[in-house]
Amino acid sequence: MAKKAKKIVLVSGARPNFIKIAPLMRAMQRSYAARLQAILVHTGQHYDYEMSQAFFEDLEIRQPDYFLGVGPGSHAVQTARIMMAFEEVCVKEQPDLVAVVGDVNSTVACALVAKKLEIGVAHVEAGLRSRDLSMPEEINRLVTDVLSDFLFVSERSGVANLQQEGKPESAIFFVGNVMVDTLYLQLARLAKPEDNKPAGPFAVMTLHRPSNVDHDAKLREIMEAITAIAGDLPVHFPVHPRTRQRLEATGLLTRLPQSGIEFLPPLPYQAFLRLWKDAALVLTDSGGLQEETTALGIPCITIRENTERPVTITEGTNLLAGTTFSGIMAAYAEFKTTGGKKGRVPELWDGKAAERIVKVLAANL
Ligand code: UD1
Repeated sequence: MAKKAKKIVLVSGARPNFIKIAPLMRAMQRSYAARLQAILVHTGQHYDYEMSQAFFEDLEIRQPDYFLGVGPGSHAVQTARIMMAFEEVCVKEQPDLVAVVGDVNSTVACALVAKKLEIGVAHVEAGLRSRDLSMPEEINRLVTDVLSDFLFVSERSGVANLQQEGKPESAIFFVGNVMVDTLYLQLARLAKPEDNKPAGPFAVMTLHRPSNVDHDAKLREIMEAITAIAGDLPVHFPVHPRTRQRLEATGLLTRLPQSGIEFLPPLPYQAFLRLWKDAALVLTDSGGLQEETTALGIPCITIRENTERPVTITEGTNLLAGTTFSGIMAAYAEFKTTGGKKGRVPELWDGKAAERIVKVLAANL
């Protein structure tokens, strides 16, 4: 008699999650449909069309089986709401495994619920460490990894971190980067004619980290540096909702000399890729974009003091600038002198990470 398919609940909640879930869903469907049943949960942590539904459409992710509709809130409120709603899903579905991705509040909330119900947990993008506990994501990463039975790692530093923390070798799987799976697939799918491509060299910027945008003085200092850069190289800036709120509240959006900075709404995956793949330079505080620029060999200046993705620096195109005016300008000066950091694509960032993950799960569940 054929064995019953194992039930895996896949959790997604915020914009970067959707990019990581897409290849996992595809790999489960393509190779293991008879053995693994995917139940897709969207917590509703991100809810604007541009931050959520637009990604489902671009990445061809089917409608979720459960939409928990939690919306915004303080960390405690948002995490608690996700936990309460997700517990009901787990009790009803009795899955064999809960798979979480990345480091957002949905990731840690659902891992915690599953583990307390004695359901196995898989963490995709395990082992990354910034060692900066003022970052909510670092707390989410640490707690999620403590709870996880399968630790799927995107770069070798993550393996070393997990080993140092005493995780058993049998739980650690170095599989590569699912975000790069999506990048390669969507790059191949981009519609050919490109009418709206900016003429001449340009930079693309994203900024949303609370430590950079929630403090007026810090946001002002960063935007001063970006304004100075934009005088030399036009900057296209799709603005995250959190950042837009802060730019509006501080009056910066109207006060900033807009010559050179083009403020855009948050862009869906393909429209954003179409833009940044041709950029001379990317400026960002995002985790994912540090990796994506390394995968495509585009110079990246990271507006942070640290990174949990060190391979983007040791092997990739990433330069850590810090968050001061002088730090960002020094990094830009280096970019101008050298033409940008050259790098190579890290090990196993080959578009097949999700296949490896699903193979491990199929063999072990
Ligand atoms: C979250 C993640 C962060 C990730 C980022 C990607 C956590 C702790 N943080 O940060 O790791 O890099 O997503 O985007 O999980 N908002 C909207 N519309 C939306 C979503 C949010 O207007 O669709 C507003 C909220 O009302 C809130 C602000 O944006 O005021 C921040 O949203 P939140 O989910 O708290 O965190 P992010 O900054 O998006």
